[in-house]
Amino acid sequence: MSQIHTRILPVPHVSSSLLPADFGLHFSDASQRESDVQEPLEKLQVSFLSEQSKHSLQTAAEHLRSGELVAFPTETVYGLGACALRSDASERIYAAKNRPADNPLIVHISDTHMLHQLLPSPFQINEACWALMRAFWPGPLTLLFPVGRASDGSPVVPSTVTCGQPTVGVRMPSHPVARSLIALAGVPIAAPSANASGRPSPTAAAHVMNDLGPRHVLSYIVDGGECHVGVESTVVDATTVPGEVRVLRPGGITVEQLTEVLRPFPSLSLRVYGKDLARNAAQEAAPTTPGMKYRHYSPDARVLLVSDGTQADPTLSHVIQSAASSLECERDVRVGLMFALDSPLLLSLDVPAIHHWAQSHPLNRLSPVLQMPGLQLCLYSLGQRSEPETAAQRLFDGLRTLDSCVPWSGQEGACDLIVAEEVDETGVGLAIMNRLRKAASSTVRVSVP
Ligand code: TXA
Ligand code: MG
Repeated sequence: MSQIHTRILPVPHVSSSLLPADFGLHFSDASQRESDVQEPLEKLQVSFLSEQSKHSLQTAAEHLRSGELVAFPTETVYGLGACALRSDASERIYAAKNRPADNPLIVHISDTHMLHQLLPSPFQINEACWALMRAFWPGPLTLLFPVGRASDGSPVVPSTVTCGQPTVGVRMPSHPVARSLIALAGVPIAAPSANASGRPSPTAAAHVMNDLGPRHVLSYIVDGGECHVGVESTVVDATTVPGEVRVLRPGGITVEQLTEVLRPFPSLSLRVYGKDLARNAAQEAAPTTPGMKYRHYSPDARVLLVSDGTQADPTLSHVIQSAASSLECERDVRVGLMFALDSPLLLSLDVPAIHHWAQSHPLNRLSPVLQMPGLQLCLYSLGQRSEPETAAQRLFDGLRTLDSCVPWSGQEGACDLIVAEEVDETGVGLAIMNRLRKAASSTVRVSVP
């Protein structure tokens, strides 16, 4: 069998915007996202403003229609897509990522016309679901729905996608490239994050290429630039437990945003798994969203999480030195720091060159490498503490950058140790902490200056 070479399909893009026109696209339903429309986003029609977009997206869509894999940008992270209605296509996803076969896939749709194809008929979508869809679709919200059956009794979404669950997770991405690609393919697209299983999710085409290119498993990556949200969608079950809306995975839509939209439904309680919905053994062992069954988001380097402690706890310098010495490295230990630039903990570190860099280059992400006795240090900036959206957007890129391409003296390479700071669990901070905890091997409390 000939080897597959992974190629990039470019589209024009402006890094700070998610308007279809900036990607060479025109959407016919742009005006329909009004809250008073009974069924918003019913049918998406795409036309092209750029020949490059036309070529790239038509090539990718044709490939998806023929049952092959295509990686594409969404507003959250890059997805590894395949036709959601064919089990042979979705099987390719598991093989390419080396994904455990019991971890179900999210199905991506371009409009609600596609949603109805997936549901049982008849099926009454409840009012809370409608409210959430109106508020957050297209966008980083995945909702669980029961799976419909074809006339021969087989599930419309094959069990390779749902892993035999009675529900399917559905989301309508807001990234114009993702949405138009699905519309052009004309079929719902199953897509997990396009990382190799266990690695941090990809937020740029280069991340996908690094993970999957060497495996020769996919022909095309559509390159739409960096993802804006940076953490995956919020997974919500508003269907299966009467009287409850459950957040199974925190993500790009915050609990505060969900609370606001559900305010008109006082009889419903919003419960967040692991927070006000107690963890339980069955859920923990299950591969589906809340579970911790699989290690996630892990770079190769050891990740140490640090949190605010008391004066009795060791200083950050001390914690780094002692973690570095436990690695028993023959050369200087390479330490990557992931902090907000104005973090008091970072400022407590006795390394004036880092503070100087942070002040003079507030927009840069990666500091130069600094030599310390027995250590080399490099800082990846998560922005300012007042902007958790920046931290979310950079989180996976930070883990990947520190894990592979720091220009150490001599050669580019990985950190031996990554030290990241906990963030406040409000807003998107809840999703950031969920990812950081899964990436980290331990958490250490350090004294606040
Ligand atoms: O933002 C996102 O959601 C990205 C982009 C590509 O859309 N996708 C993504 O997919 O993060 P993935 O496969 O990496 O994570 C999907 C999560 C998994 O943890 C899976 O267990 C859960 O959603 N999930 C999928 N279907 C489910 C279901 N029926 N019930 C419970 N959890 C489900
Ligand atoms: Mg994933």
